[in-house]
Amino acid sequence: MIKDIIEYVDIPDMKPLLKSLFDEHCGVDGRTFGNCPIEAYQLGPSPSKAHAGFIKEFKPITDILDRVSVSDPLVSGFDYFTNPKHGLPHHIDCPNNLKAYNLIIPVFGTVTCDFWEGDYNELEYKGHGSTHYKMFKDTYDTKNLVKMGSILIDKPVLIDTDYIHNVIPVDVPRLAWLTRFSDLDKEYTFKEIKEIVEEKLSWLPCSSDHLPGCYYKEYPKELLQDKFSSEILYAVTIDYGNIGNIPEHTDIPPNSDFANAVSHVIPLEGGMTIHTGGKSTKVEVGSTHMLDIYKISHSATVLNGTKCIHVITK
Ligand SMILES: [Fe+2]
Ligand SMILES: [Fe+2]
Repeated sequence: MIKDIIEYVDIPDMKPLLKSLFDEHCGVDGRTFGNCPIEAYQLGPSPSKAHAGFIKEFKPITDILDRVSVSDPLVSGFDYFTNPKHGLPHHIDCPNNLKAYNLIIPVFGTVTCDFWEGDYNELEYKGHGSTHYKMFKDTYDTKNLVKMGSILIDKPVLIDTDYIHNVIPVDVPRLAWLTRFSDLDKEYTFKEIKEIVEEKLSWLPCSSDHLPGCYYKEYPKELLQDKFSSEILYAVTIDYGNIGNIPEHTDIPPNSDFANAVSHVIPLEGGMTIHTGGKSTKVEVGSTHMLDIYKISHSATVLNGTKCIHVITK
């Protein structure tokens, strides 16, 4: 890693999801992007407008990543390197307004990314009316560049793309997802954005129909052991965002182990009112509420920004 320029980030494994999205939607027609001799499958239309883009198809991954900030549709998507001689030449990526950062999640294969000191005045926008990356003028001798460092991209990395960099294939074919966070609300330092990325991406979208726009992450059971006398089957933190109301439902036990289990709601932030058969119970921070979620039909009114731990016990 090169501190504050390119660093590995600790995020959950998204390889299986990415691999299945790529297999399902890409490869039918190899797209090239601008003057890059690699295949690329972006969210938005290709520079030539020949392809409409993959916003709908790639929603399962942007639902996760866009918790940080909206992925720039122009460049965010899959980059697929198949030729060991074809990498990316020296360039910088340019922000739309504030400082932007790239997150790269390798799926298979590897590349190295080199960073260089050089004359930034010798960089210019190139190709397809580009306003989002600069390369060296043809007259610039890249022998003048001095290497700052190099990194093997075999794990997810976060990049400050204001620095001159190039990409060299190492192990091809190489597939990676790239998201460019170019729509941040303010200028973040590398350290700040890295913390945000690692925190926000530790949450995954809830799959239940009655929890649209909600996110979850597993909660370590061992931290709860002395609070519950019965066996803890599962514990999770749910971020309810701005859901407002949860419609009436009875939860479905994931397997027979859960058939007689009950749920305990522990609000960490915000709070909710749980409605069961005409009875309403306010559940606030500092309290724990038990609910027989697999047997009793329930609905809820949820304050904006509510986060709760849910513990399922036998
Ligand atoms: Fe780049
Ligand atoms: Fe429920």
